[in-house]
Amino acid sequence: MSPKREQQTIVVGVTGGIGAYKACELVRDVMRRGFRVKVVMTESATRFVTPLTFRTLTGEPVAVSLWADEPDAKVHHISLAEAADVVVIAPCTANVIAKLAHGRADDMLTTTVLATEAPVIVAPAMNTHMWRKEVTQANVSALRARGYAFVEPGHGALACGDVGEGRLAEPALIADAAQAEACRARDLAGVHVLVTAGPTHEPIDPVRFIGNRSSGKTGFAIAEEAARRGARVSLVTGPVSLPDPFGVEVVRVTTALQMRAAVLARFDSSDVVIASAAVADFRPATFASGKIKTADAPDAVVLARNPDILAELGEANGGRAVLVGFAAETSDVVTYAREKLAGKRLDLVVANDVSGELGFETDENRVMFVSADAAEELPVLDKRVIARELLDRIAALVDARKSL
Ligand SMILES: Cc1cc2nc3c(=O)[nH]c(=O)nc-3n(C[C@H](O)[C@H](O)[C@H](O)COP(=O)(O)O)c2cc1C
Repeated sequence: MSPKREQQTIVVGVTGGIGAYKACELVRDVMRRGFRVKVVMTESATRFVTPLTFRTLTGEPVAVSLWADEPDAKVHHISLAEAADVVVIAPCTANVIAKLAHGRADDMLTTTVLATEAPVIVAPAMNTHMWRKEVTQANVSALRARGYAFVEPGHGALACGDVGEGRLAEPALIADAAQAEACRARDLAGVHVLVTAGPTHEPIDPVRFIGNRSSGKTGFAIAEEAARRGARVSLVTGPVSLPDPFGVEVVRVTTALQMRAAVLARFDSSDVVIASAAVADFRPATFASGKIKTADAPDAVVLARNPDILAELGEANGGRAVLVGFAAETSDVVTYAREKLAGKRLDLVVANDVSGELGFETDENRVMFVSADAAEELPVLDKRVIARELLDRIAALVDARKSL
């Protein structure tokens, strides 16, 4: 399998573990697969293997110091961070795992990782006791939750004489992971993805509205991930306090009717629609143009039904675009998700149970992907990781549709 576009760049980070010599094999393997490789080493790594070795293998300068005088006018860690399609750290010490988990940037490698938008793969290697330490495992979990991928260390004889977990995974396995991530990094190139996010606010008067607790985090994470994977992304969002994701067309709306207009204006050019917004089903039938005085408060607010945007798209679609809906339920999650799938002619429903603590406003969620013939339950995951899993499924659906 070769990379999809012009040569992609894999930045290989090498840290100060005895497994550093295996990074030479990794670099060769990744290059054989058609990638350009740039190596970044920690100072400790240079105690194990010389930069000259990697320079000779890759034909590229090797970055070690943040302070080296570079002929290139661009700040080196930033140019590396931008050039990277994927960053792979192998071997990765307990120390670098800890630094990454806490956002530290005090050397060339950790500064490059903090500055990059590229996916990062970590291949840890260390003594068994270091690997099993609670603090190391907590750091690994924190990084996983933020979307870092791990190539687990293997079991066997370690350089320190111990036998156990902690051995660097085989270089070919790490190269496989890097290649898979590089392909994923471009798997939505040329695809227009329309995402809706957040709540809608349905005004009663200029200061009051009917709304809901959606934070927009999931939709924003999906938009960001889709853009990172090469898609052209339009994000139509209700009122949320999140910043615009990079490289995404963001359309900020307030009401369901405004959201409908913004979505319909973009639907014909969209290949994928992911409707994660919690659109209000009802709006106040009348809008008071001046603030209603407390003494004049009506006994009831008369409601009018809002249009069902996704059902409208399902009807107009005729199987053209991939349509994905969300179903936040408090019971019988799969049953309702299947009803939604069939009723609105969707390809996939992301269902979640909001009766517990997870769902609205949280960073994590537990979701199911429900299609006509399958219901796949995921563990509790950060919303960014859910975005990634969802786009894996969607990329496969887009591919299948293209080949029809
Ligand atoms: C001979 C030797 C082997 C080492 N091997 C490892 C290792 O495999 N994994 C690890 O996490 N640390 C290992 N260390 C400790 C690291 O080198 C040390 O924590 C260092 O500060 C790491 O620097 P870095 O994370 O900036 O590369 C080793 C140290 C020595 C002296």
